Order: sequence, then structure tokens, then C-alpha cells
Amino acid sequence: MPAYKKHIFICEHLRPENSPKGCCARKGSENLKKALKSKLAAKGLNKTYRTNSAGCLGACKHGATMVIYPQSIWYGHVQESDIDEIIEKSILQDEVIERLLIIEKI
Ligand code: FES
Repeated sequence: MPAYKKHIFICEHLRPENSPKGCCARKGSENLKKALKSKLAAKGLNKTYRTNSAGCLGACKHGATMVIYPQSIWYGHVQESDIDEIIEKSILQDEVIERLLIIEKI
């Protein structure tokens, strides 16, 4: 069993289109996960940092959401264009990207 340095969970929960809660799957989370996995693999980092799909993380209004453990960094409204910065700052280092941080309690 590999010992990963970090786990990144990306919510891919799907709700019906008219759901008042919304969902991350309709905000591009599947593509986010694919992009993150692909970029980590291209850098040879996929054996060190594990990306997983997650069900609802309980922060639906902030979707698309992700959480990075063990630091417990919660990000919301994540776009594919944020992935490179997330890798460089929050995955390879422990730096928090303030604009993506979900600040309020969920
Ligand atoms: S649907 Fe993604 S956090 Fe709830």
C-alpha cells in the first residue's frame, strides 16, 4: 500500500438539474479531477499525491469543491484554470490560496 503524502478529494456529486442545492458535478468537477490527475501524472507525482472522487462534501453552494488532506485545506468555486496553482502552492507546498478558500463554517 503506497504511503501518499497528501490526498485530494474532489466532490463529484450529481443532483438533478433543478435541485436548489446544486451540485459540483454540474460545475465541472469531473473535468477538474481529470485535469488534476493528468497534471500530477505528467509530473510523475501521482504516486505521491492521490486524487480521489468524493461524494458531497457538504459545501454545495461553494462548488466545485475540493479538500486537501492532511492540511485540511478546503477550496470552493475551483476552475480548471486554478489547477496549476493548486499543484504548485497547496499540493507541493503547504501554501493556502486565499481566493479559493472556503472560509465560513460548513
Ligand atoms: S455537491 Fe459538492 S459539496 Fe455538495
